[in-house]
Amino acid sequence: MSERRYRVIQWMTGDVGRVGVRHFAENPVYDLVGVLVHTAEKVGKDAGEIVGVAPTGVIATDDIDSIIALDADCVFYTPIIMDVDTVCRLLRSGKNVVTTSGFFHPTEDFAEYGENIRAACREGGTSFHGSGIHPGYAGDVLPLTLARVMSRIDTIRVYEVVNVLTDAPTDHIEWMGFGKDKEKFLAEPTILGLGLPFFAQSMYMIADGLGVTIEKVTAADVKVAVATTDIPHELGRIPAGMVAAQHHEWTAWVDGNPLIVFHAIYLTAGPDMLEPAWEWGTTRYRIVIDGDPPTELTLQGVHQPDGTMAHPGYDWTAMAAINAIPDVCEAAPGWITQLDLGMVRPRGLVRK
Ligand SMILES: NC(=O)c1ccc[n+]([C@@H]2O[C@H](COP(=O)([O-])OP(=O)(O)OC[C@H]3O[C@@H](n4cnc5c(N)ncnc54)[C@H](OP(=O)(O)O)[C@@H]3O)[C@@H](O)[C@H]2O)c1
Repeated sequence: MSERRYRVIQWMTGDVGRVGVRHFAENPVYDLVGVLVHTAEKVGKDAGEIVGVAPTGVIATDDIDSIIALDADCVFYTPIIMDVDTVCRLLRSGKNVVTTSGFFHPTEDFAEYGENIRAACREGGTSFHGSGIHPGYAGDVLPLTLARVMSRIDTIRVYEVVNVLTDAPTDHIEWMGFGKDKEKFLAEPTILGLGLPFFAQSMYMIADGLGVTIEKVTAADVKVAVATTDIPHELGRIPAGMVAAQHHEWTAWVDGNPLIVFHAIYLTAGPDMLEPAWEWGTTRYRIVIDGDPPTELTLQGVHQPDGTMAHPGYDWTAMAAINAIPDVCEAAPGWITQLDLGMVRPRGLVRK
């Protein structure tokens, strides 16, 4: 098994998919055999040119049928939005699918899709696995990993802190509602709020891992901080007085108590430019477990000598999934969850 190479297809070359192409080109465990793109200008180009590495010999296509006809062990499926019918086609065609685009743990919210995926796996003798940094690692695998060294758990709190100006694509500023009037922002559904069923999958994964049952998942009122001064950014500015930070809090209840609390804190400035003067620090994931012994873990990039710190969010997202490809390919057919995988054995990471 350690000698085996895996023939992989990269499905789309966005922020996550580009990491995939670069890794497949570099890690001898993988043979990149196909690349699907959506953007017309990328069609006909070598995948290496698209992601800024040496030529791979694989020419990008937008022809889905030709990709599905390829012989491959696994598709690293990273489009903006998952198309379940396409995923099922891939699975039925005999290719395993590893994805960052959705379905991280079976929950009621996505039960019908889950059944379709399992049926396609049975038909194709293949496996499906969803992963990423969050959901897929920071808010589920890491808390469960920490649980291993606990003697009692009262509450698990997961904080996702993101500086949107430095550590997210610029389109997120408008897309997430920054710069809006506070009352208008709070009166409308938010992108993050709509994502709760996705993040709740991580809560159910923790609960399943701990052998307890979630009664309900609730959302607290969203909190916002407004800009005390104009906040300039690449596409314009957030005017003073408008929404410049948002804090979402979701709770999973077990036996009438809040067992798992997720905080999603997205900021465009520090306390000197916010009212209230929120101080959440740099982009990172922080897991705090109240219990015995009280335990805390922070996941973040590394501070460089010049004081900067790059947030490797897309690298983590892609690699959390890619590193599971060999184990998913070797698994029995079906939807392979993180709990099914157990300790993943990444291949080819130690190399010259
Ligand atoms: N779980 C996690 O931790 C996590 C974290 C980040 C992202 N994600 C998920 O991972 C997936 C990929 O994220 P990403 O940041 O790489 O996405 P992205 O950069 O926004 O886009 C992915 C690619 O989709 C293709 N595309 C663009 N417009 C399209 C359209 N109208 N129709 C069909 N395809 C189109 C493009 O491919 P080409 O450029 O190749 O043409 C684009 O680059 C998303 O589903 C995202 O939600 C998960």
